[in-house]
Order: sequence, then C-alpha cells, then structure tokens
Amino acid sequence: MNSLLLTGGRVIDPANHLDGPGDLLILDGKIAAVGREAADRAPAGVEHLDARGCVVCPGLIDMHVHLREPGFTAKETIATGTAAAARGGFTSVVCMPNTAPVIDSASTVALIHERAARQASVNVFVAGAITRNLAGEELAGIGALKRAGVVAITDDGHCVQNNELMRRAMEYARMFDLPVLDHCQDYSLVTDGVAHEGYWSTALGLRGWPAAGEALMVARDILLCEATGARVHCQHLSSADSVALVREAKRRGLPVTAEACPHHFTLTDAALAGSDKFWAEDGRGVCGMEGRPDLPAWPAYDTHFKVNPPLRSAADRDALLEGLADGTIDILCTDHAPHCGFEKDVEFDYAPFGVTGLETALALALMQLHHSGRLSLPELIAKFTVAPARLLGLNKGTLSVGADADVTVFDPDRSWVFTREATASKAVNSPFYGWPLRGRVVATIVGGRKTHLASG
Ligand code: DOR
Ligand code: ZN
Repeated sequence: MNSLLLTGGRVIDPANHLDGPGDLLILDGKIAAVGREAADRAPAGVEHLDARGCVVCPGLIDMHVHLREPGFTAKETIATGTAAAARGGFTSVVCMPNTAPVIDSASTVALIHERAARQASVNVFVAGAITRNLAGEELAGIGALKRAGVVAITDDGHCVQNNELMRRAMEYARMFDLPVLDHCQDYSLVTDGVAHEGYWSTALGLRGWPAAGEALMVARDILLCEATGARVHCQHLSSADSVALVREAKRRGLPVTAEACPHHFTLTDAALAGSDKFWAEDGRGVCGMEGRPDLPAWPAYDTHFKVNPPLRSAADRDALLEGLADGTIDILCTDHAPHCGFEKDVEFDYAPFGVTGLETALALALMQLHHSGRLSLPELIAKFTVAPARLLGLNKGTLSVGADADVTVFDPDRSWVFTREATASKAVNSPFYGWPLRGRVVATIVGGRKTHLASG
C-alpha cells in the first residue's frame, strides 16, 4: 500500500549532496533505495510512478502556516489547510499559534496533534506561543509546551514588545533547545499602518507601516540572541535593512536565521495601486512576466495585497532576492494566512492582513529564484527541506535510506494557471489567481502514500 517505485526522475537531495538521474524505491513508508539499485531491489508488482522530466526531492516543509484550527474554522481547517499543502508539494507544515484558544498550553497542542492524526493529509508540527494568549505580558509555560511536542515558539501575528520579557523567553528557549521565531514589528513605529510607508502609501492615502518598524525588532532580536545564546529566527522578512542586519549577524557567527515568503519577494507595494500601475512601475521585477498579454487585472486598494508585514518597495524586494541568493535568508515558507471572503471584501483599512500561499509557493520560488538564474535547484530545494528540518530538529527533509518516505515530485518547467476554483483551501484570498506560473507539483507522497497527484 505505501510502497512505490519512482523511475526516471532527477533525484535531488541537498541533505546528502545528491543530484542526478535515478530511481527511488519506497517500501512500507520508508525510503528503501536511491539510484541504480532502487529498480533492482523493487519487489515484483510494486506500484510504479513515472517521474521522467520531473525532479524527485525530499517532501517540502512549510514552517509558517496558519491552519486556523481550533477557533477559526470558517477560514480554514486542519483538513482543508493540509489538503492545500499537499497540492503545493508540502509534506509537512508547522502551524502558528494564533488560534482560539491560542496554542499556549499542552492541551491545545494535544488537541491539534489528535485532530491532525485523523484529518490531515500531511504531517503537522506545532509552534507554541511565547506569551500567554499572545498578549505579550507573561510567558507561556515553555517547558510544558516543549514536553507537549512543539517544535518552536512564536507570537506570530503579534510581536513581544517588552525586551526584558523577550530576553527571558530566549533564556527558556535555550534551556529547552527550542528556536524562537519572531514576527518582527515595533508597535510604536507601526501603530495602525496598513501599507509600506513610501511613495504608494502617500499617493493612495494609506497609513504607513515603515520598514524600520521591522528592522528595529530584527536588531533587538540579534542583540538578545548574542546575550542569551538562543537560536533566533526572523519570520517573513520584508525589508532591505532587515536582510542587511541578518547578513551581518551571520558574519559574526550568531545563531540567527531568517525566512522569506513568495509574496514579499515577488510583489511590491505598487500592487496596491492596481494592476496597470504594478505592471507599469514594477512588472519587470517579476520574473518571466514581461509583456505577457494574458496577465490578470486587479483594481487599486485590492485587499488581496494586504499582508503583514506589507509588500514593500522594489529595492526591498530586490534585497530579499539578493539575500535568498547569497544565503542570508535560509528558509522559504508561505505565511499561508486564509481569511473568509466577507472579511476581505471590505475597505482596505478594515480587511485583515494575510494571503494564502501553499499552492503557489513552489512555482513562484522557481520563477523568482531558479528560472531567473539566482539559485540552482538543489539550493532552492534546500531552503524548503533540510534548512527548516535542521532549524526545528525535525526528522524530515532528506531522502536518506530509512527516512520517512515524504517525497515531492515536480516538473520545474510545466506552465499552469492557478484559479480560485481549483484551490483546496477553504479560503480564496490569494493575489495570484490567473497568473501564468511555471513549475508544477506532480505528486506529493507522505509516508509512502500519494496524498496528491496532479491531473493532466
Ligand atoms: O499577513 C499576516 N497574516 N501576517 C501575520 O503575521 C498574521 C497572519 C494571519 O494570522 O492572518
Ligand atoms: Zn507574522
């Protein structure tokens, strides 16, 4: 049942520095053989998947996903969110704690593990809160969360403003060997900003969310990392200054890591002025989209472009691409943030922040990072597999013999168009419907079972 022979693909496993044509044999949910001996060792009658023209790699890991369960199941559920993950080629996700109740106690962690075991199509790992109820006032029981199985702590969606409290959080995290993930946002600078503070926020009359509001907290976290020795990870970087700070911290040898999301390294704040302005002002930055007659149109103030942190300037977007290319940004993830249609269908100021991302992440990463010549396929795949696995201590992200058979098969060149009708998510708040994309997931295999198989 969960045995499979994949033949004729390009097998890329950055964890083992493997890249070449070959077969892959899965037996009883585990990787049994890679390379020439795979076909020889396959038992008679084992199910076969033709992977010619495709990359076969360790299952992708998305360490930044909002599954919304418990509490916000009108937006998404463990079942629908992980179905979308499987379509996007992800075999593992890490869910964020801004649920209701907040994931700040062992019992909520247990509830998610239990529901995921019954309803999820991919592996679900849990991030616990740093502070009780994400209120930023007192620490959650970090030891109890660790014992319950969380792989990291974060107040994502919120940011601990009290530096002393963050220092204590890092001290506990270090004791329990948990990475601290931070959504970097200084509230006194950002206040009620809704768009990147710059030309477009001024032209459109939107309240500004300045880039320094992120970089200040990145700098704070780096200093506290140095003081405590904790592993610190900056979430969804959006600004050039943040990238420069992380680059410098790494140069000094600090255990600081960072992630970036496709919407931040693909789009800019010009998108808020509508598609005409976006393509005119900035379309050249979107790889392979120049002069395409078939691009979708959207109006100014489209709330599908409202995210936190916000889409920033072309210079910021280019700095993210540069940071991804030179290794400053270690990890690719989505910040998949589903919301209900009626919540987004309001004036820009009132809409919640967030876009969905699970089903388009691989294609956008391939377009912006690989097809543009910035990263090789093994380098790109590493940021989706071995890098998050190492940071979070997951026994995943590799095709080593004996490892869980979590495998992603994708055609890096196949063109396709993402539509709201085809999404497996409950939510339809993606900015990328109608976009011509390049790079398609063909099969997602979790523990040797096919959880997604592309049609056609
Ligand atoms: O855009 C966002 N949406 N950013 C966050 O940090 C939180 C997220 C959400 O939960 O909707
Ligand atoms: Zn966040």
